[in-house]
Amino acid sequence: MSKTFDVIVIGAGPGGYIAAIRAAQLGMNVACIDEWQNASGGPAPGGTCTNVGCIPSKALLQSSEHFEQANHHFAEHGISATNVKMDVAKMLARKDTVVKQNNDGILYLFKKNKVTFFHGRGSFASKSEAGYEIKVSGKAQESLTAKQIIVATGSSARALSGVAFDEVNVLSNDGALRIGAVPKKLALIGSGVIGLEMGSVWRRLGAEVTILEGLPTFLGAVDEQIAKEAKKIFDKQGLNIQLGVKVGDIKNSKKGVSVSYTNAKGEAQTLDVDKLIVSIGRVPNTTGLNVEAVGLQLDERGAIVVDADCKTALPGVWAVGDVVRGPMLAHKAEEEGVAVAERIAGQHGHVDFNLVPWVIYTSPEIAWVGRTEQQLKADGVAYKSGTFPFLANGRARALGDTTGMVKMLADAKTDEILGVHIIGPQASELISEATVAMAFKASAEDIARICHAHPSLSESTKEAALAVDKRTLNF
Ligand code: FAD
Ligand code: NAI
Repeated sequence: MSKTFDVIVIGAGPGGYIAAIRAAQLGMNVACIDEWQNASGGPAPGGTCTNVGCIPSKALLQSSEHFEQANHHFAEHGISATNVKMDVAKMLARKDTVVKQNNDGILYLFKKNKVTFFHGRGSFASKSEAGYEIKVSGKAQESLTAKQIIVATGSSARALSGVAFDEVNVLSNDGALRIGAVPKKLALIGSGVIGLEMGSVWRRLGAEVTILEGLPTFLGAVDEQIAKEAKKIFDKQGLNIQLGVKVGDIKNSKKGVSVSYTNAKGEAQTLDVDKLIVSIGRVPNTTGLNVEAVGLQLDERGAIVVDADCKTALPGVWAVGDVVRGPMLAHKAEEEGVAVAERIAGQHGHVDFNLVPWVIYTSPEIAWVGRTEQQLKADGVAYKSGTFPFLANGRARALGDTTGMVKMLADAKTDEILGVHIIGPQASELISEATVAMAFKASAEDIARICHAHPSLSESTKEAALAVDKRTLNF
């Protein structure tokens, strides 16, 4: 006998578990299926984000930043810390505890909201008058039916062709988060978000890190002025980032990994390292869903085809998060999940794709929302720009972290804020003010006229807004 629900969600990453909770809040009878297993074979909801993405990477970034501070910056404060050691096993165990707290938190939220959780793989079986039949294969086999299905199966690391991840020497984001001892030499392919975050973790812990990037430009999606500043800082930190390379043969042996590549000058090079992290983007997870059973359409990348409202061409079938178009970000997945649950309930769920903030959690952090200066130029928009360096901010001086700046771009005529770009301390927190301001269509002058607490890093945002009108007070 098939168990009947109003909504079945396949995948319990940030897109799926949030959609399930919101649908339950709106009075629907909801099932959520997820196949992720923890080390003891139990359920581990939360998807990539919780298990091998956002959460564990930020745990390691925090631990390694403490180590970096103790080694290189405590002395400025008069604190002597000699013989500082990193216990990698303990650092990884702490990270695992943080992950488990999040897994358990989601299971608790399912109970609280009366979402029925199934641990196993969900796949389409058939379509009938009663709705879509979803088969769950796991420790127990189940058949579930609902008229509304939300697919939130996420994404997985893309491998280089012909070079499989063994998670011992050639690592995806998964293996990169559980290297048991600091490698002497580490290479990363791809200087995107994972390359920079993971490269930073292991560099801070003492690895000699080389990042090989195929494109000639660094962080092409980031505002050019900010990307240039970032490259300067990362070079100084000792991250060896090589742009415009062409990766060739990769040999994986017991001794380590040998990477052949051609550098930007066209010279043949060989890099021998202990570990290689491949971070060249991610692919949507659709194998195992048996989309053929119901005729669910995929695009050439294997992503599920949806419209702006996350609707597929099949009535009642929706898809959200990394498995569809758009940026692969946890908060984007969550917003889509909420909006779809609300649409199913007959409400007007909404996601503003122009206001999805980005954060790269390096040190300094890089965060932005809205359009970059190069995009405004390409779009032919007349704009004004204001920047304010953290060097002139009292709180940043007190923190001992004065690298970077806040940059605000506003419409030349109306003064409406079009983009905010930050590199510096706590950029991940500072970007929220800009996102809220832009959601309310604020002008630069609106921010400039708002009282900001002193001393705070957020005063730099206010000063950048003043700079748009060429009237900074502290610089
Ligand atoms: P996922 O989180 O991938 O979840 C999908 C779930 O579906 C998984 O649990 C999977 O097991 C399950 N599943 C798949 N197929 C089936 C099936 N057939 N049946 C049952 N279950 C199935 N984003 C940020 O916004 N901020 C960050 O700081 C950040 N850091 C990251 C760091 C790393 C190293 C990585 C790899 C990613 C990071 N991301 C970050 C991206 C973020 O993790 C993803 O955008 C987000 O997890 C996408 O959510 P999702 O729900 O679409 O998919
Ligand atoms: P990415 O898309 O950020 O970067 C991949 C990089 O690899 C690009 O610069 C690309 O030019 C380069 N590349 C691709 N093929 C290559 C090749 N053959 N040789 C050399 N370079 C090559 O992808 P990444 O870092 O794997 O991360 C995947 C996604 O996960 C991100 O795009 C982001 O959506 C998400 N993520 C988000 C984080 C955050 O929000 N802080 C942190 C980590 C990941």
